[in-house]
Amino acid sequence: MTKVMFVCLGNICRSPLAEAIFKHKVKGRGLDGALQADSAGTSNFHIGEPPDARTVRNALKNGVTVDHRGQQLTIRHLEEYDYVFAMDSQNHASIKRLVNGRSVRAKIDLIRSFDPLDPGGEVPDPYFGGERGFQEVFEMLDRSIERLIDYLVEENGLAHR
Ligand code: 4NP
Repeated sequence: MTKVMFVCLGNICRSPLAEAIFKHKVKGRGLDGALQADSAGTSNFHIGEPPDARTVRNALKNGVTVDHRGQQLTIRHLEEYDYVFAMDSQNHASIKRLVNGRSVRAKIDLIRSFDPLDPGGEVPDPYFGGERGFQEVFEMLDRSIERLIDYLVEENGLAHR
């Protein structure tokens, strides 16, 4: 089982959506026995809370169900997970601070390194913006995660269905 962790600041907007899109695609490809996902925040702001209602609503419009409760990223996640993907460079830096030079299992990268349209981009925080920001976040995650799964299939020798 290959384990993937998605990370943002609050764990109520971007990373639970990334987790949900990943699970949706993985299930659709019949890979749910091989690829597992979770999400976490670098902050403790929303521990135990459900995802932002705007994230849930927008995801549903796109056919994806988001079901998660907020948790904070810990060093244990970095020991346990194979990959940890940050939504933006600020969260990437927070993850690196948590690692603090130790050797951990997880490979750490930005999720949009897989975005075919802008592989240097970040997933912007939609929290203080309008509804359109949520759809933009959905679309960049959708593109990036499609390619991420292709990569994981290749890297782990998983059979296509
Ligand atoms: P997220 O969005 O990191 O995508 O979950 C945020 C949600 C809440 C806050 C910041 C970002 N906040 O400051 O409460």
